[in-house]
Amino acid sequence: MADIAPVLKAVVPAAGLGTRFLPATKATPKEMLPIVDKPAIQYVVEEAVDAGLSDVLMVTGRSKRSIEDHFDRAYELEEALRAKGDDERLEAVHESSDLAIMHYVRQGEPKGLGHAVHCARQHVGREPFAVLLGDDMIDARDKLLQRMIEVRGQHGGSVIALMEVEPDQVSAYGCAAIEATDEEDVVRISDLVEKPAAEEAPSNWIIIGRYVCDPAVFDVLEKTPPGRGGEIQLTDALRTLADMPAGQGGGVYGVKFRGRRYDTGNKLEYLRTVVQFAAERPDLAAEFVPWLREFVRQHDGVGDAADS
Ligand code: G1P
Repeated sequence: MADIAPVLKAVVPAAGLGTRFLPATKATPKEMLPIVDKPAIQYVVEEAVDAGLSDVLMVTGRSKRSIEDHFDRAYELEEALRAKGDDERLEAVHESSDLAIMHYVRQGEPKGLGHAVHCARQHVGREPFAVLLGDDMIDARDKLLQRMIEVRGQHGGSVIALMEVEPDQVSAYGCAAIEATDEEDVVRISDLVEKPAAEEAPSNWIIIGRYVCDPAVFDVLEKTPPGRGGEIQLTDALRTLADMPAGQGGGVYGVKFRGRRYDTGNKLEYLRTVVQFAAERPDLAAEFVPWLREFVRQHDGVGDAADS
């Protein structure tokens, strides 16, 4: 029944303009903004590698050169650190270039997430593949992608990651109509809507930025007309796949994720993520956490008026 071809490749769309972080993102890709001292995009590539996907295709656009540089060797810098005997930093510099086999393709026109994924067609070929969106970071301790790959192995088709949110948040995401299966954390997807109005949402389960796609998605994307925001939406292509027979690469499943997700595409959540990561860093926590406690004590009450 299920196609047992292994999932080996990851596709990371990184062509967005990052307008929410201007002016920082005028000349720097938003994916390069650091979470403490590591660019957000490196966490995403580490997650793919951790799930066994060491072939990573990044779909980039203009002004994204620094992403390629980050995952490449930096000889001058390495030489300077070596000359200083700074092994620790030398290792940190090597880490990103040794991580995965990186490939790049340019999206050219900003025609949406579905279009970005379609740009991966030639590289991916006829294999199932994962898509990881850079704005969503999944805690390295929560093995979401591994679970999704497992579900793909059991059921075939495509697999999306779902999280339950408050009804007023649904309109910012793709939203799924779900049906229970024998497994508590796995659902069958019967419908998908990209960024529905709260009253039209089929459930409170939203799509978070991890997908395992059957290669049939490429043919479907080719025929998918622009949807929400005039863009070609991956959600719309998956909706079509949900209605297609398994023999044609159809069927979409969802994994309910109840772990830790960090939405770094949003300023407030980005700040929370940086603070959280700093507070858990062995080299920073001992000084940072007491400082933070004191800072909060002094700012007690700030912002309360805005809440009421
Ligand atoms: C994209 C998808 C959406 C999904 C979201 C997750 O939206 O289109 O379905 O819920 O990522 O972060 P974007 O945030 O790019 O607008």
